[in-house]
Amino acid sequence: MTKNKNNQAIWSTRLKTNTSSLFQRVGSSIDIDKKLYKEDIIGSIAHVEMLFKQKIISFKIKNKIIYGLNKIKKEILSKKFEFNTSFEDIHMNIEKRLFQIIGEEAGYIHTGRSRNDQVITDLKLWMKSATENIIFLIDKIIKTTLNIAEKNIKTIMPGFTHLKNAQPISFAHYLLAYVEIFYRDKKRFRNNFENLNENPLGVAALAGTSFNIDRNYTTKKLGFEKPTNNSIDTVSDRDFALEFLFSVSTCSMHISRIAEELIIWNSNGFNLINLSDKVLTGSSIMPQKKNPDLLEFLRGKSGVSYGNLFSMFTVLKGLPLSYFKDLQDDKEFIFKSNDNLVNSLKILDEILKNLTPNKKKMLQLANSGYITATDLADYLVKNHSMSFRKAYLKTAAIVNYAEKTKKNLDQLTLIELQKVEPKLTDDVLKVFNLYNSVDSKKTYGGTSFSNIKKMITKYKKQK
Ligand code: ARG
Repeated sequence: MTKNKNNQAIWSTRLKTNTSSLFQRVGSSIDIDKKLYKEDIIGSIAHVEMLFKQKIISFKIKNKIIYGLNKIKKEILSKKFEFNTSFEDIHMNIEKRLFQIIGEEAGYIHTGRSRNDQVITDLKLWMKSATENIIFLIDKIIKTTLNIAEKNIKTIMPGFTHLKNAQPISFAHYLLAYVEIFYRDKKRFRNNFENLNENPLGVAALAGTSFNIDRNYTTKKLGFEKPTNNSIDTVSDRDFALEFLFSVSTCSMHISRIAEELIIWNSNGFNLINLSDKVLTGSSIMPQKKNPDLLEFLRGKSGVSYGNLFSMFTVLKGLPLSYFKDLQDDKEFIFKSNDNLVNSLKILDEILKNLTPNKKKMLQLANSGYITATDLADYLVKNHSMSFRKAYLKTAAIVNYAEKTKKNLDQLTLIELQKVEPKLTDDVLKVFNLYNSVDSKKTYGGTSFSNIKKMITKYKKQK
C-alpha cells in the first residue's frame, strides 16, 4: 500500500529520491489552481457517491470521505487551510489533508480516477460558472447601453467612415451597434457550453477504468449533459479552453474598439462626449489634465487576452495525445483572461454610466463635411429620373461649388443649386435637414427614428 506520511509525495515509494526542490517549486501549480478547490471538492463528492452506488466503496467510507471533504472546504473558506507547494496541485493538497482528517480510508477517494480527468472536470465546472458570470456582466452592459440609447433617439451625430464625416446618424443607433456586438459575444460564450457540458470524469489516466463506475451518474450529479466519448481524447483535449480564450479575446477586442472610439470622442479635438470625474484621472505635472486612463486600460487589456489565446495554441501545437505536463499552464491562461475580462466588463459598464453625449457638439460636427450629399444624390434619382451615377456627379459638382464658396450645403440657395441642375425646385432644400436625413433611412437595420424605437423594444425583450 502507498505510504502516506504527510510530508511525502504520494509517489515517494516509487521514486528513490525527492524530486528536485527547484522543480517542486516551479512545477507546482497550487498557487494558481487553488482557485479550483470548490469544484475539486464537488467533483470528489460526486465521485465517491457514485463509487458507493456502484458498490465499489462502503457506505461508511463514503460518508467519512464526504465529511472530510466538507471540513476541508470550511477550512479553505475560513483561510485556515495551509496550501503546500510540495504537494503540487489542488488535487494532491486536498487528498493529503483528507488523510490527516480521516486517516487511511482517504485512500479510497482516488479509486477509478486520475488527476488527468479530475483536473479537467474541475476546470470545466469552473469555466461553466465563469461563463455564466461573464454573460451576466455582458447583460448589464447591454442594459446600460439601452438606457442611454433610449434617451438619445433624436441626438444627431455624424456617422464616420475612415473617421471622416460620412452620413448623419442617431447617437442611439450607434449605441445599438454596441448592443449587437455584445449580443454576439453572449452568443459566442453560450455556444461554448456545448463542449463544456461534456463530462470528463471517469476516463481516468487515459484508458478508462476497470472499475464498474457509472459515468452517467456523475454527469447528472455535476450538471453536465453527457460523458465524453473517448478516454484518450478527453485527457488530451483543451479545445474548450481555446474556445473560452477566443471568446474572451473577441469580447476584449470589442471592448478595445469601443474604448478607442470613446477616447477619440473624449479628445479635445472631437469633444463629442463628457465623462464624469469618477472615470478620469489627473496628471502629475499638468494641472489642467483629465485623462481617460480607464478607457486606455480597457484598450490595452485585449493584448493580454490575445497573448493567452496564443499561448494556449502554442502549448497545444504538436503535442501528442494524451496528457502531458505542458497542459498544466491552461489554467493560468484561463484565469488571467477571465479576470481581465471581468474587470474590463465592470469598468466599461461604469464608464458608460458616467458618459453623457455633448449633443451640441455632435450636431455641430454633423453640420460640417457636406454630410447630406448622399441624400441629395438619392433625391435626384428619385425625383428627376436620373441614374445614381449621374446624380452622384451632379451632387459632387454642387459639393465642389459649396466648398469653393465656403458654404454648407444647407446654405446654398435654390438659384445656386439650379446652376448645376436647372430642374431643381424648392422641395430639394429639405434633404439638407439632418433630422430628415436620419429619419429617411427606414430600411430594416437603418438609423430612422422609428427603426431605433422598434429595435430598443426588441432588445429589451431579447434574452
Ligand atoms: N496539476 C495537473 C494539471 O494541471 C493535474 C494533472 C496531473 N497529472 C499528471 N499526470 N501529472 O495538469
